[in-house]
Amino acid sequence: MTQDELKAFVAQAATHYVQPGSVIGVGTGSTVNCFIDALAAMPQRIAAAVSSSQASTERLRAHGIEVVDANSVEQLAVYIDGADEIDHRGHMIKGGGAALTREKIVADLAQRFICIADESKLVATLGAFALPVEVIPMAAAQVGRRLRALGGTPLLRPGVLTDNGCPIIDVRGLRITDPLAMETEIDQWPGVVCVGIFARHKASLCLLGTAQGVRTLTF
Ligand code: 5RP
Repeated sequence: MTQDELKAFVAQAATHYVQPGSVIGVGTGSTVNCFIDALAAMPQRIAAAVSSSQASTERLRAHGIEVVDANSVEQLAVYIDGADEIDHRGHMIKGGGAALTREKIVADLAQRFICIADESKLVATLGAFALPVEVIPMAAAQVGRRLRALGGTPLLRPGVLTDNGCPIIDVRGLRITDPLAMETEIDQWPGVVCVGIFARHKASLCLLGTAQGVRTLTF
């Protein structure tokens, strides 16, 4: 099975966690695009979605699914999103698609984070995928120096500004053995908007696409 087929497979499986008529959180990325298409094909639709990016908002609306402002909801039963890496405890690296800040905001509203990913995303230790950090522009150089002091190699993502108008620093070479500690540390540096470690907002469940079928990992 190809990676795209695995993505479509887990996206379809994720619809079983969606209550028709409810408002759900929707992430960003190619796996989530498959999920949005699967949502649109559900016989009984959701009431609305809170979206984590302009791209997902456009795709949801193109399917006739209403998108509501995050400020208009108090809580979401589920947030469904992909990941760049996920470990065996549900900690993730996210932000490959530059939507990490809004993704964390929507995840914070949700009671359950359901991660949908193909098996290539499952890792023993986070860090082979470059860690995205969204920053206020005037802090980019100083945050870069701090990331270097942590042992990483920071690189400003060329030609990219997030939906919030901020640049992203991608950090290679970090071996993230304590995701919660590193998330907490980087989060408190002045000028950091969001770090792409999702430890505090880790997955509750992961639907992992494998050649043998969908594996369900619970954390
Ligand atoms: C976007 C993300 C995505 O969830 C992550 O990049 C995975 O994307 P894909 O499903 O395309 O592999 O964090 O900011």
